Amino acid sequence: MAKEKLKVGIIGTGMIAVSGHIPAWKNLEDDAEIVGAADILEDRAKLVAESEGIPYAYGDWVAMLEELDLDVVSVCTPNAYHKEQTIAALQSGAHVLCEKPVATCTADAAEMFDEADAQGKHLMIGQTARFSERSRAAKQICDSGRLGEIYYAETYFLRRRGIPTWGQFHMKEHSGGGPIYDLGVHAIDLLFWLMGSPPVRAVSGVAYTRLGNQDEGLATSLAESGAPIGVLTPLPYDYRDFDVEDMAAGFMRLDGGAAVAFKTSWAVNIPENTGKTLICGTEGGLVLDPLTLVTNMGSYQINTTPRVPADRKVAFSGHWLEVEHFVNVIRGDEELMVTRDQVLGVMRTLDALYQSAAEGREVWLD
Ligand SMILES: NC(=O)c1ccc[n+]([C@@H]2O[C@H](COP(=O)([O-])OP(=O)(O)OC[C@H]3O[C@@H](n4cnc5c(N)ncnc54)[C@H](O)[C@@H]3O)[C@@H](O)[C@H]2O)c1
Repeated sequence: MAKEKLKVGIIGTGMIAVSGHIPAWKNLEDDAEIVGAADILEDRAKLVAESEGIPYAYGDWVAMLEELDLDVVSVCTPNAYHKEQTIAALQSGAHVLCEKPVATCTADAAEMFDEADAQGKHLMIGQTARFSERSRAAKQICDSGRLGEIYYAETYFLRRRGIPTWGQFHMKEHSGGGPIYDLGVHAIDLLFWLMGSPPVRAVSGVAYTRLGNQDEGLATSLAESGAPIGVLTPLPYDYRDFDVEDMAAGFMRLDGGAAVAFKTSWAVNIPENTGKTLICGTEGGLVLDPLTLVTNMGSYQINTTPRVPADRKVAFSGHWLEVEHFVNVIRGDEELMVTRDQVLGVMRTLDALYQSAAEGREVWLD
């Protein structure tokens, strides 16, 4: 017997809905169909619905939840709205795929997961960095024990000039934070997941706003800012509204004595955009970009580069894998791979990083 198609609704029809979620849901046309799209800017919802063949468009997402009896909701709004919309969607009877970061503080994130439990629904957070062939291969290597005891790791994700200028990322009121929540949440989530989600004991961090709030008059590109295929309906941008960090660095002490160094930026004076994740263990090391296993053999030091299958040649291919996984979870065929404890562990770390930067001291976690 054919499975019933999941009825999907989208809240927030901006860049990531149009470039990531909508194509990923449409790719699963036998399993799901997008029936509604809502945006606080109704014209934007209508434009996206018309161009994507979505039957219903709303300026009021509450009305969409009330009227469409959705099975799944993709929450694709700025971070500050994730909590309210996710909780309402869960209460309407839908499973929720919510964009990263889950929320703008750990307490809000915990409430969202509590509601999912109360409603007996799945809540998945879009930590798409885990959803690539390279990340899968790296996870297999870490889980194999080949690295021995992991005692040090680094992750960084730095843009020279890559402030997202099409929406509300640069305003604390809407996004809660800058690159820590935008890029850092991907880097830390991926690293902690690879390391087996060790509890964090203490965080020391700095966060700066030195360039983003200036009119530098520099030529920049949407692609370098994280919108590789452009933005259908950008909002006007004014650097004078920029009130989040543009660069941050941190150091984390983990349970058992391991440590993690971290940095991220939307704007910093370095020669090139750069990113790296490096994990050091007693038996070996792992570098993610390019994926390299560092070991010894006999009297030789060996670097091995696994042959990883190519990801799909689409923008935001991680969203395609993530949505496929979420459908399998909803159908009961797979266990949710982005768990509540992992998401809260990352959020707690990022909260502590902001606190440490604000207070100028190391923050210890219970
Ligand atoms: N996983 C990834 O790789 C990735 C990439 C980019 C963005 N994101 C995340 O996706 C989310 C959205 O980012 P974006 O780039 O699409 O931003 P965007 O500004 O392009 O889109 C957000 C949309 O939400 C709408 N909106 C704002 N407030 C709303 C509200 N209260 N109710 C309903 N609609 C509202 C806006 O009008 C806009 O259309 C953010 O949380 C961001 O962190 C994730």
